[in-house]
Amino acid sequence: MTVVDARADLQDRLWRALELCWHPVCSLAELAAADGRPIPVRLLGRDLAIADLGDGRLTAVRDRCPHRSTRLSVGWVEDGSIRCAYHGWRFGSDGRCVDIPAMPDGPIPSRACVDSFDVEERYGLVWVRLDPAAGTAIPACPAFDDPTMRRVMGAPYTWPTGAPRRVENFVDLAHFAWVHDGSLGRRDEPVPPLPAVERVDGELRFQFDPPEMETDETALFGFSRYRMPIPLTVDIEFELESGARRFLWMTASPVDPGSCRTFWFVSRDDDLDGDDGPHLDFQALVLAEDEPVVCNQDPPEMVLDPSFELSVRSDKVSIEYRRWLRELADAVDDPARFAAVLHADQPVPQGALR
Ligand code: FES
Ligand SMILES: [Fe+2]
Repeated sequence: MTVVDARADLQDRLWRALELCWHPVCSLAELAAADGRPIPVRLLGRDLAIADLGDGRLTAVRDRCPHRSTRLSVGWVEDGSIRCAYHGWRFGSDGRCVDIPAMPDGPIPSRACVDSFDVEERYGLVWVRLDPAAGTAIPACPAFDDPTMRRVMGAPYTWPTGAPRRVENFVDLAHFAWVHDGSLGRRDEPVPPLPAVERVDGELRFQFDPPEMETDETALFGFSRYRMPIPLTVDIEFELESGARRFLWMTASPVDPGSCRTFWFVSRDDDLDGDDGPHLDFQALVLAEDEPVVCNQDPPEMVLDPSFELSVRSDKVSIEYRRWLRELADAVDDPARFAAVLHADQPVPQGALR
């Protein structure tokens, strides 16, 4: 295999690894706003229709009617199923056609079905898993159920960057001094600490002590505990100087190669009755600082081949993150091994899995 072919093979394997994992595709609020209609979403290069079939039952199906290929997302929900807008075929939550109005006496062809996928609600988001083979779980978010926390969901946003690059940016300690000079870092203190990076039950964990600096009182700034439920989620706990605890949780949903939609919320145990606006405004400032650099990485999708970009010692966290993604990509043909890699507490040597 040439270097170029091997690189492409690794990228393809990573894509399939992501198919084994859960990703959010929309918020419950977005689904509610559709008022009984399915909504179109895109995940890992596939068009899906998401619908609330009533009684909290969700469905996620391929957004294409098998009859004449009209998108099911322009249809509607009826009797706990999706009715296609073109000729009225109706599909149950398992994707099987249960009604062809033009042929009331049947038969309904056995091939009259659409692919359906695992779907669940968690944290006010709708999560989909395209391939259940590895038995993966929805990433944890400990602050979500903590009654001492006030939680605020930020507006999801789509950037022209691959999901792994979006995630890596959150844990890139060396960029704070440059991109966030004055908000999260100081350009006159460009040397980040080299944290101990651990693997614990499907998460990469490390701690970070930022430099001394004055920050806005809405800033998420202070001694930080990072947890990264692999592959595309980051959960950061901040201890503020005031003693308050705050969290930033994000997950990047892979839409297409070079495109992802980020879902996120912030939580705090101080200023409980205060206005959420300033807290979201601070995040908006941070995002505006990140966007010009993250959306101008070329190519927009992270290339897992370690020879493609040059890493240095201060990239320690991202080196470990990329190593783990490579291990998962390496194991993708064997779901049981994939699950074992996901929960291994030590790096798995490259090539040991094939
Ligand atoms: S295209 Fe859907 S029923 Fe004909
Ligand atoms: Fe940043």
